[in-house]
Amino acid sequence: MKILLGIPGGIAAYKAADLARLLTKRGHTVRCVLTEAGSRFITPLTLASLTGEPCFGANPDMNEWRPSPVIEHIELARWGDLVAIVPATADSLGKTANGLANDLLSTILLATTAPVLWAPAMNTAMWEHPAVQANVARLKSFGHAMVEPVEGILACGEEGAGKLADIERIADAMRALGSVRQPSLMGKRVLVTAGPTREDLDPVRILTNRSTGSMGIEIARSLRDVGAIVHLVLGGDLAAPYGIETLRARTAAQMMSACAELWPRMDGCIAAAAVADQRPETIAGEKVKKGDGPENLVLVRTPDILLNLGAQKREGQWLLGFAAESEHHIDHAHGKLMKKKLDAVFVNDISNGKAFGDQENTLTPVVAQGPQAALGPLPKDRLAQALVGWWAERLGLQIENQK
Ligand SMILES: Cc1cc2nc3c(=O)[nH]c(=O)nc-3n(C[C@H](O)[C@H](O)[C@H](O)COP(=O)(O)O)c2cc1C
Repeated sequence: MKILLGIPGGIAAYKAADLARLLTKRGHTVRCVLTEAGSRFITPLTLASLTGEPCFGANPDMNEWRPSPVIEHIELARWGDLVAIVPATADSLGKTANGLANDLLSTILLATTAPVLWAPAMNTAMWEHPAVQANVARLKSFGHAMVEPVEGILACGEEGAGKLADIERIADAMRALGSVRQPSLMGKRVLVTAGPTREDLDPVRILTNRSTGSMGIEIARSLRDVGAIVHLVLGGDLAAPYGIETLRARTAAQMMSACAELWPRMDGCIAAAAVADQRPETIAGEKVKKGDGPENLVLVRTPDILLNLGAQKREGQWLLGFAAESEHHIDHAHGKLMKKKLDAVFVNDISNGKAFGDQENTLTPVVAQGPQAALGPLPKDRLAQALVGWWAERLGLQIENQK
């Protein structure tokens, strides 16, 4: 993707350098445009060196309105697949919200027809000011996207809302905005489950597993990118992805009730969560002391989410599950598919400690007719795209390649 990264004069401008580096490492072409104030915080030399592309805008090396055979603001506006402003200042938000264009960046922002993303950062009182909030609402009404600032300790020493969102989240929002929507998957409602469950033994001890939730989160992102409306039910500690309605669930019972509530309204479900099969029969109210602990733990069954969803599956709904197996992979997966009325099971080979937490993985889809060609080995983000593409193809839907 060709990304135009506008950098106005906020104290968080140094984080834009990290973002430019991250995006370049991920294979995007990034061109930075500095405002006059932005160039007081970060140098064009840093940005040009990190991106391998020239840095535009107000800076000592390159006159903003230099004589040129091309009209630079129009050329740049046409060049970008996406324009992102990081960190968006109160001033830059206000200018574009009101149609002002008195420097290269603000002029590009009026001239572009590409998606625009703002990641604001400022003092809490500034962020909460009605003028700033009105400008943000106005920009959203133009179809511009926002990665809202978060709460934290700000550079001015205050604590509150106004801190620049995490750069990984900003990069995720850019990915979502720059993706090729697929007409066939637009508007389809898909439930995705991800992550481990945690069953309490007492206030400090839990029964859990080694799943992180990264595979399910990547599947949710891939579905979001092609235009599906994704509902994610997420266990574990990983951050919720951008633009996805996310419900946090700690225990198997919580995950079950969240899924049961959503399922009747969904077109399909991909269940990638590693749900505990058992939980302790009782949860001690106080921390169990060394000598008092029971010799054996008494465990009881947790609700079987996939079995329940399968039993309630209506005509036209599809249900895909995962099986983490360390032996007889295909036989076990096929048994699970039949018992739980699944349309496909993706088999994860976890022998020798593979799959959980790893960045690269292989999945073998198993359908009623038997195992299919394996997907991978691939990094989990690419594997998730391959999985969504494979399923869309089986449904007879077309998927175009992402940039
Ligand atoms: C040290 C310093 C830090 C600043 N940090 C911010 C900030 O975080 N957010 C913001 O909206 N403005 C901040 N400002 C104010 C902007 O720099 C000022 O409004 C400027 O005119 C913005 O111009 P621009 O939007 O064209 O880059 C800061 C100013 C200074 C001197």
